[in-house]
Formats: sequence, C-alpha cells, structure tokens
Amino acid sequence: MQALRRGLLQRGRLLVAEAPLGRGYATQAEGAAVTSKATVEKEFLVYRWSPDSEEPPRYDSYKVDINSCGPMMLDVLLKIKDEQDQTLSLRRSCREGICGSCAMNIDGTNGLACLTKVDRDASKMTRVAPLPHMFVVKDLVVDMANFYAQYKHIQPYLQTTKPKPDGKEFLQTKDDRAKLDGLYECILCACCSTSCPSYWWNSDKYLGPAVLLAAYRWIIDSRDDFTEERIRQVNDQWKLYRCHTIGNCTTVCPKGLNPAKAIAKIKQIVETGKIV
Ligand code: SF4
Ligand code: F3S
Ligand code: FES
Repeated sequence: MQALRRGLLQRGRLLVAEAPLGRGYATQAEGAAVTSKATVEKEFLVYRWSPDSEEPPRYDSYKVDINSCGPMMLDVLLKIKDEQDQTLSLRRSCREGICGSCAMNIDGTNGLACLTKVDRDASKMTRVAPLPHMFVVKDLVVDMANFYAQYKHIQPYLQTTKPKPDGKEFLQTKDDRAKLDGLYECILCACCSTSCPSYWWNSDKYLGPAVLLAAYRWIIDSRDDFTEERIRQVNDQWKLYRCHTIGNCTTVCPKGLNPAKAIAKIKQIVETGKIV
C-alpha cells in the first residue's frame, strides 16, 4: 500500500498542470530544424475553462504553423503554451506514451497527445477537449481521483500467504509469465474508461475497463494467493456487469490492449469457476 501511495504521489508531482515546460522545449529545437519549410497554418480549437473565472467553458482558437513544430498533438499544444498562451493547462511528462498523463480527446477520439499525429490537412481545424465525462480541473486537465480510487480498490499488487521459496522472489514459469502479456503494459491513461458509455453514466459504481483489465491481470497471476477474493470483489452487477461489450475501450487503447477481452474473461471465470 505504501508503494502504491508513493507511486501516486510521485505521479501527482510529475503531473502538475502549469509546470514549466521543461522537455517541451525539445519541440522548439525540432521546430528550428524545419524552419526552412513553407509555413502551413492550421487552426486548433482548444477547450478552455478555469475554476477561477465566472465564464462558462469555451473553445479558444489558435493558429499554429505545423511546419515549425514536431508532428504530434502534444508538440502543437506546447507550442501554443510556449508562444501564444501560457495560461493553457495540460498534463504531460514522458512525451513518449509511457506516463499516460497526456490523455485527451482529439477530434472526437480519446488518445495520448504525445502519440497522436496532427492531421496535416490545414483546411480542417482540429478540436481538442478533455477526456469525456470527467470533472475538469482546468482546461485539458481532468480530475482522476475517482479513477485512481477505483484502481486502489482492486488492490493492484501481489498478495501472497506463503514465504518466498528462495527467500528472495516468487518465480513463474515462462508460460505463466506470458499470460500477463497484453495486460501489464497498461499505463492507466484512462482513454478506455472515458470512452465507455457505461462508465460515463455510472462511473461512481462501475469500475470501467482500465480497472477491470488490471483486476484480471492480478486474478490470473500464478504467484497470487488471493484469486478467489479478487473474483468475489469484482463479481457485482455494478462493478463488473455494467460492461455491455460496447468495445470502445479496445478501439481507443493507445497501447493496443484489449480491455473488452479481459472483462469477458473475468465474466467467464465467474460463470465457470475456472481460470481461463
Ligand atoms: Fe490506457 Fe489502454 Fe490502460 Fe485503458 S487499457 S488505461 S486505454 S493503456
Ligand atoms: Fe465499455 Fe468496453 Fe465494456 S466500451 S461496455 S468496457 S467492452
Ligand atoms: Fe507521457 Fe504522453 S506525455 S504518455
């Protein structure tokens, strides 16, 4: 638990909105390398809302020369923040699809800004919004507290009753380890959960695809001794069975994971009583 708390705190520190741009300046360097290219101005509509203002949410328009920055949506947003509007708030850290912090809705689809290429067609504007159906903290920054609390609820760490065989670590066969492929890679970006209509309407009770994928990852871990408790914990008409196999979650996952399949597997385990 301590480790989890530490992890979240560390995550919180990394993900502070309005942080100095830091690595974002790398995009300027990239931009400098391509300044000889012709200017291609494209319009971006970016969702804006501040809790410090009485004004309702709005979309602000920014024109950006997409030939003078990197190719990804995050490059454009950092260029806007650098050169046009320093009050724009967004989260980002790794800039390479690892931290999961830059998740947002780009032209109607959830994705990571750092991995989403900007549509080069300058005749079309691109619209950027926070993750859907989440409470907004400011601009593109959403409140992840409920999502993290749900993750904590499934106890996402190894739980054992027996001592380590060699006193150092719990070993797995190669086959058992391979079962975790396609699950352990989740970066908790919440793109899947916030694309799920069931989660939109019941995020207070339904755990959502990201958390259920994590639950399945621990249910099938050969080293864990709390498999039955884990299954009992999620076997609930709200926590699990609000998944109606809509499939948006798998379509949008930027890591190519399949939360819909993981949820189906948990349901199969519940129904058959066998780990599948
Ligand atoms: Fe993000 Fe994919 Fe994990 Fe969902 S399953 S939180 S979309 S990485
Ligand atoms: Fe939602 Fe995915 Fe199930 S979109 S309903 S969690 S298959
Ligand atoms: Fe880390 Fe995009 S900045 S995933």
